[in-house]
Amino acid sequence: MSDPIALAVIGGTGLYKLADLQDVRTVQPDTRFGAASGPIRIGTLGGHTVAFLARHGEGHSLPPHKINYRANLAALQSLGATRVLALNTVGGITERFGPRVLACPDQLIDYTWGRISTICEEPGTEVLHVDFGEPYTRSLREAVIDAAGRAGVALVADGCYGATQGPRLETRAEIARLRRDGCDLVGMTGMPEAGLARELGLEYACLAIVANWAAGAGPDPDEVITLQDVLDNVAAASSGLPRLLSAL
Ligand code: HPA
Repeated sequence: MSDPIALAVIGGTGLYKLADLQDVRTVQPDTRFGAASGPIRIGTLGGHTVAFLARHGEGHSLPPHKINYRANLAALQSLGATRVLALNTVGGITERFGPRVLACPDQLIDYTWGRISTICEEPGTEVLHVDFGEPYTRSLREAVIDAAGRAGVALVADGCYGATQGPRLETRAEIARLRRDGCDLVGMTGMPEAGLARELGLEYACLAIVANWAAGAGPDPDEVITLQDVLDNVAAASSGLPRLLSAL
């Protein structure tokens, strides 16, 4: 019998493997919602058992609106995971959230549409109206913030995540609207994942990795966002992740 999973990590764009995961075995559980995005890799990190799943698939083959968020979470839960840390690559909107910043948001606004956003779809299932005033689990957020402090990894300890539909990036007008709405960060995969995690009774927090200034948000309003910049900034910002996760 292997040790229980202390933490499940879902990796976003540019994060398809978890550096420093040791003694890795791979599983691919089927769920009542279908198949997860790809194999789940279970190994040890910082002396604890950690499961890792690449949200877009290991070859980044799934766009945000095609991800089976329900299957991903249910697969991790079926392995015994109760705490999920979502790594989300995002654009930064407000001053404190420039490229390469790590942040642990405490709020979100959902602008996505047409995604299956509940586990209560099948006829006969009980309809849940889960409380979502605080969309991320406070105790897990506090643990992430504390771990970053102990690991010496700089982290902005709040922020509002705006979840957009994608896969295209936003217009400058859309980002101006998100700013007016109170969003600090923008990404495409934060929802429905967080809401589904709440319905499934999972502890869930987001660790956002700022890859770029969102459209028109940076010092150069004409800047064009390239995938290479996104990947370079994610790689640079992720260097402290194994330390943070080990501390967590
Ligand atoms: N917008 C939405 N999602 C993103 C961005 C962005 O600018 N950068 C990385 N993911």
